[in-house]
Amino acid sequence: MTQNISQNNKAGDANQITREYYDSLLIEMRHIDSVIPSPKLELYGEIFSTPIMTAALSHLDNCRPNGMVEMAKGALAANAVMWTGMGEEAELESATATGARIIKIIKPHANNDIIFKKIEHAEKCGVLAVGMDIDHSFNSKGEFDTVLGLPMSSKTLGEIKSFIEATKLPFIIKGVLSEQDAYKCIEAGAKGIVISHHHGILNFAVPPLMILPKIAKIVNHTIPIFVDCGISSGIDVFKALALGASAVSLGRVLMNPLAEDGAKGVQRMIEDMTKELSGVMARTCSRDIMHIDPSVIWKR
Ligand SMILES: Cc1cc2nc3c(=O)[nH]c(=O)nc-3n(C[C@H](O)[C@H](O)[C@H](O)COP(=O)(O)O)c2cc1C
Repeated sequence: MTQNISQNNKAGDANQITREYYDSLLIEMRHIDSVIPSPKLELYGEIFSTPIMTAALSHLDNCRPNGMVEMAKGALAANAVMWTGMGEEAELESATATGARIIKIIKPHANNDIIFKKIEHAEKCGVLAVGMDIDHSFNSKGEFDTVLGLPMSSKTLGEIKSFIEATKLPFIIKGVLSEQDAYKCIEAGAKGIVISHHHGILNFAVPPLMILPKIAKIVNHTIPIFVDCGISSGIDVFKALALGASAVSLGRVLMNPLAEDGAKGVQRMIEDMTKELSGVMARTCSRDIMHIDPSVIWKR
């Protein structure tokens, strides 16, 4: 059921390299003593039906009118966690009003006051957690990025600590793709990290699943590890969970279902992938998502 989301075949395209890495991972079978598996996720004290979440997306009105609310309704119907990226306060308010459990990712705005204000607003909306996509600090020319005219900047460890200390909510760092940043996130007190290259922000970026086992060793189950980038089937999800992810996010692969069928399309894709995940769990003697033995994965 792998969905095709690869946009181009340029040398160094991190999306293509990431796809090839997923496909280089093979799975052995373990049937004896296996049981009907549970794909349930426990996250920040709440229980969800699946470890498959929506990615931190934005500008979903380009996809479908009221796209963010439709996404929220779809995630809620699937009892899945929803993430959201940049957007107006009103959009977050209407998405959280659906009852969906949302993780709000804030951009690394150059002006830290904007960040503190957005953390406070997300708290008022009753989100599950907040975080920052630290991989959006620079453009590809080594300058600080601007996103829709808004200036960004890189953040020091001290600044990240100050964001984390500004809220009682779990604070998640998105865009971790090195052991060095993983160590720094732990030192800062982050309550989760997203291993991601932001759908190919850097050519030749390491595939998230290639670096995942090393980061999982550093994190050592102290905080959840989330993974996104190119996940397009329940089998991809299984590989990520087996190698140390707590949960995964779907980004571009949800765009067509959202455009064509709104909340129902989102719900259907999450549920179908969850069933495919359960199918692999059953055939690998993985009774729940916490008990997937990494040694079932083979490198081709
Ligand atoms: C339309 C669109 C908007 C996005 N907006 C954001 C954003 O505002 N903040 C963020 O952290 N990531 C954003 N992302 C990146 C996704 O969260 C995710 O990291 C990336 O798309 C990789 O997942 P995928 O390969 O499943 O799409 C966006 C992605 C897309 C496709």
